[in-house]
Amino acid sequence: MANYDVIIIGSGPGGYVCAIRCAQLGLKVACVEGRETLGGTCLNVGCIPSKALLHASHMLHEAEHNFAEMGLKGKSPSVDWKQMLAYKEKTIGQNTSGIEFLFKKNKVDWIKGWGSIPEAGKVKVGDEVHEAKNIIIASGSEPASLPGVEVDEKVVVTSTGALELGKVPKKLVVIGAGVIGLELGSVYARLGSEVTVVEYLEVITPGMDAEIQKTFQRTLKKQGLEFIMGAAVQKTEATKTKAKVHYTLRKDDSAHVLEADVVLVATGRKPYTEGLGLDALGVKMTERGQIAVNGTWETNLPGIYAIGDVIDGPMLAHKAEDEGMAAAEQVAGKHGHVNYGVIPGVIYTHPEVANVGATEEMLKDQGRPYKVGKFSFMGNGRAKANFAADGFVKILADKETDRILGAHIMGPAAGDLIHEICVAMEFGASAEDLAMTCHAHPTYSEAVREAALACGDGPIHM
Ligand code: NAI
Repeated sequence: MANYDVIIIGSGPGGYVCAIRCAQLGLKVACVEGRETLGGTCLNVGCIPSKALLHASHMLHEAEHNFAEMGLKGKSPSVDWKQMLAYKEKTIGQNTSGIEFLFKKNKVDWIKGWGSIPEAGKVKVGDEVHEAKNIIIASGSEPASLPGVEVDEKVVVTSTGALELGKVPKKLVVIGAGVIGLELGSVYARLGSEVTVVEYLEVITPGMDAEIQKTFQRTLKKQGLEFIMGAAVQKTEATKTKAKVHYTLRKDDSAHVLEADVVLVATGRKPYTEGLGLDALGVKMTERGQIAVNGTWETNLPGIYAIGDVIDGPMLAHKAEDEGMAAAEQVAGKHGHVNYGVIPGVIYTHPEVANVGATEEMLKDQGRPYKVGKFSFMGNGRAKANFAADGFVKILADKETDRILGAHIMGPAAGDLIHEICVAMEFGASAEDLAMTCHAHPTYSEAVREAALACGDGPIHM
């Protein structure tokens, strides 16, 4: 048994960032993690491995579609799936061992095992009970289940199983046109699978800017993904090698069946709190099964905090990281802060999709007068040279003050470009501030500047 200032339960992006920040602030800290490796869902079975497969499959796409035109001749590469998975595993290993190194460097103790909280100030791992002045729950999320759909992680899989399939499926049915479905659907479409996405709503990526939703879906269709919209999946039937997906169309209640080699269930995630003992402890939960916290991430029990996917808000690694840093500052007696109005979202397909702040739909609902500055990547020299001119940048600014209220980008490196707008928003910048900032030529970022110019006297290259 050891005594700590803080024990953090969970070593995902929320937990490990929180642990490191606590240590940097002079606190004695331990992080409890039951997986073999640190890094949680993100590093082990989420963001990082999926990005490895997205990168590899994008390289294949480039070789198949654009190499010849650039004068790069020769046989196109074929897919060695085992090697691709090995590359993915190596990427995971490099990242998880990186966190282990950072823990050692910052003197964060890794308590190996699954933790529970028998009472405030105590964390039990195996037979050991550790004492801590503060406990921070960062136990993350798990795939939500869907009635009638039994996951075996072989034929009917969640994102976890989809990252280690035995082979590239001939037919893949994806349930849910959200972030996971579209990222992993893209991977397999590029690797040669016939991919059909079945979505309950009439639009993909719910909550996103409507114009982006439409353009993005059109682009994905061109890439070979098929969509069945307004379709409620009722159940799946699986054998060892095949599955059937039963769905009804919402417009007429008609029943349909799709056959698949693999079915990916990507209909959302839910907070993971199993085994923590929160019920017995009396920790207040929200109606949606999240841990309820106040403005300083403290639960109804003093000294017990929660951050990341287990509390309200978008289930994003970087949102959890920000909360991790802020909660660390709170327990160290400082004033942690997260600006929930400026949290970017990124879909790592090709082209990428990124957004921050308000959508047009939100501003209309609020009755807030706004203007739109839009610029297509067709007018961006670098994008054209790189076969990446699909998409646009759209900046929404207050009609009176010109203050940037939101931005939506579909295009090359959108996930990186969005951050210049995030910084601008953090500083309360106007579209003109962005437009007057010199942007290097030729870069994709010029499209952001042009969209900002479009909020004023107009873009140059359109
Ligand atoms: P999601 O919430 O993004 O999308 C789920 C989709 O499934 C929705 O479009 C919903 O309408 C649909 N759906 C629900 N029930 C259905 C049914 N019975 N039949 C047909 N469609 C149905 O959830 P997803 O993609 O599983 O992602 C989970 C979480 O992980 C999200 O919060 C997401 O933000 C996060 N994530 C983020 C990533 C990123 O930032 N790049 C990558 C992967 C996950």
